[in-house]
Amino acid sequence: MSQLKKALEKAMKERKTFSKEGANHAESIGGFPEDRAESGAGKLKHGHARDVVEAPAPTYFQTRSVRVDFEKLVDRKVFSLLKKDEVADQYKLLRTMVLSGIRPKGHRTIEVTSFKEGEGKSLTSVNLAITLANESRQNILLVDMDLRRPSIHSILGIDIKPGLKDYFEGDTPIEDIMIHPGIERLTVLPAGGRMDNSTEIMGSPRMENLIRDIRKRYQDRYIIFDSPALNRCSDPIVLSSYVDAILLIARANYTTTEDITAGMALVKEKNVLGIVLNDSEISRRWAY
Ligand SMILES: Nc1ncnc2c1ncn2[C@@H]1O[C@H](COP(=O)(O)OP(=O)(O)OP(=O)(O)O)[C@@H](O)[C@H]1O
Ligand SMILES: [Mg+2]
Repeated sequence: MSQLKKALEKAMKERKTFSKEGANHAESIGGFPEDRAESGAGKLKHGHARDVVEAPAPTYFQTRSVRVDFEKLVDRKVFSLLKKDEVADQYKLLRTMVLSGIRPKGHRTIEVTSFKEGEGKSLTSVNLAITLANESRQNILLVDMDLRRPSIHSILGIDIKPGLKDYFEGDTPIEDIMIHPGIERLTVLPAGGRMDNSTEIMGSPRMENLIRDIRKRYQDRYIIFDSPALNRCSDPIVLSSYVDAILLIARANYTTTEDITAGMALVKEKNVLGIVLNDSEISRRWAY
């Protein structure tokens, strides 16, 4: 068993103990996938070519629409678009885990964060959003809340502007910055540009209004927030106070035990759905 896996297991065990001790937060959802009877889980090591891409026609008229290039998205490892693909299957498994963690509680808002930079938060956010939109027949709003280093727009190949920066710094209404990227049931709120004062913004009444507004307005939607890493700034912690649940990402051969210990200490009182072990060679990919 790898060091990382041991650390993940320990972290989630500690969370379970914490939950049992009476914290008013949900327990983590199950054990490691190795402990489940599931079989046939594929690799989340991205990189090989795919040929079949289904491109559903956009059906949105009011929200700004663009038609993203699905082939290019697959090149950028957005494999959740593929119909028959082992990585896409892994995202479906993640979707099932996430839904089982939020649905019974009526939760709708999920923050995706990780222990440090480059662990795959943004790519996982996009793939999770698409797979939820595809499979659960649920409307999904994907929000780029990494205001310091936004990247959802570049993964999807859409313009960064107009976006949240225009909402926070100007008077641009939310409905004017929403964009439908031609993937059914998926709407995106791009960042609008880098914001060096993101911490100030995260704690501002305008942010509170934004979250309240989108929660109220889009009651039929799951909302996924891509965010910075826990070790970078306080933004993900501030954001966590607005959301129902957190999904953590660790990256195989990169995230260390120390990273996990430090990160888990920051979120120990939060509702953590689980930890995704990204980019792993082992046969079962998702660690919860
Ligand atoms: N499972 C994977 N297999 C291969 N490449 C991956 C995988 N996950 C992420 N990557 C690649 O790693 C890089 C970082 O991924 P991503 O931007 O999603 O990480 P991040 O945690 O959001 O980073 P940041 O902390 O900078 O916001 C990207 O080039 C992405 O394509
Ligand atoms: Mg990112």
